[in-house]
Amino acid sequence: MTRPAYVYDLDALAVHVAGIRAVLPDRVDLLYAVKANPDPGILRTLARTVDGFEAASQGELRHLATVLPDRPAAAYAGPGKTDEDLVAALAAGVGRVHVESPAELHRLARLAHAAHRTVDVLLRVNLPGDAGGASLVMGGGPSPFGMSPQEATYLAADPPAGVRVRGVHAHLASGLDAPAAAATARAVLDWAVAEVGATEVNAGGGMAVDYAAPDARFDWPGYGRLLGAALAAHPTVRLRIEPGRAVTAYCGWYLTEVVDVKRSYGQWFVVVAGGTHHLRTPAAKGHSQPVRVHRRGRRGPATDGAPVTVVGQLCTPRDVLARAADVGPVAVGDVLVFAMAGAYAWNISHRDFLLHDPPEFRTGTPEDVALNWDS
Ligand SMILES: Cc1ncc(COP(=O)(O)O)c(C=O)c1O
Repeated sequence: MTRPAYVYDLDALAVHVAGIRAVLPDRVDLLYAVKANPDPGILRTLARTVDGFEAASQGELRHLATVLPDRPAAAYAGPGKTDEDLVAALAAGVGRVHVESPAELHRLARLAHAAHRTVDVLLRVNLPGDAGGASLVMGGGPSPFGMSPQEATYLAADPPAGVRVRGVHAHLASGLDAPAAAATARAVLDWAVAEVGATEVNAGGGMAVDYAAPDARFDWPGYGRLLGAALAAHPTVRLRIEPGRAVTAYCGWYLTEVVDVKRSYGQWFVVVAGGTHHLRTPAAKGHSQPVRVHRRGRRGPATDGAPVTVVGQLCTPRDVLARAADVGPVAVGDVLVFAMAGAYAWNISHRDFLLHDPPEFRTGTPEDVALNWDS
């Protein structure tokens, strides 16, 4: 049986990201949040178009240095940076360190000063606000992320030696549609210029991806127009954004073979090789991963065409990839093709649980891989 496989369509990714870049104003830098998917092929493909990469750990810094040695991270972010992390960021020559707290700023300043360096920073600020409609709220109220507006204003006015405060970073929520994401960016921009004298603002990522609507896309053209209008009030400021999910989600698929089908108390279950230890996204976000069936002729028992629950090989009832999936009849030996598996998928999965084999990784289209599936 072919091992479960991730398939990345890098040509489609290149077209998608070029489309995003083309509708953003010139004064907006497009960074890619490496945490969404650090696959080397994906990073190399994106490197041809994006203005830079946002790393959020020392591991991501090392990974970028290996995969793209000529592209040090444009931004280094993340909570809980140790002294070792900060020294690694200085050594890697990252463009901007996003500072999470006053204490972190003072540690960074001390380390930079000791190395006879002055490091460019953005202060991560937790501005008040209502992230209505967001799938994941990371600011606007009590939160471990960033510092208060008052702390940022104070530090920007009197920064310690060793750091140069260029402006502000904010990532207040994930899952925002274009009007909400642009309104958030505008609020951060207006505040940062007025209160901190920012010449740069990073408005974060968090552009919405709707797993219940696989053909829908974040309205990048509308977002670009709204950012252009927001920037018009601040003619000398540079804006950065750092999306992850909305860039790579659509270029990845997870393909796996049906091992068993069964009926339990009137409900159909389809058991596949692999599971949420390969593709944790549906378990993490509580959704059904969009799926279709590649039928291969009947090789064993089949369902009767009623909606099915698709589960994996783990000994837990949480190992569910899709519920009430209306995919028609499914037979043992068919290949299930899960879409939207290009972001926060393999790299967030609890891959060592039960010590099953890892999936394979291929590039190309899911159609080609499904057609050449071996049993
Ligand atoms: C600081 C920061 N920037 C960017 C991102 C990327 O967000 P998304 O993948 O939702 O666009 C995240 C995700 O958590 C984040 O925390």
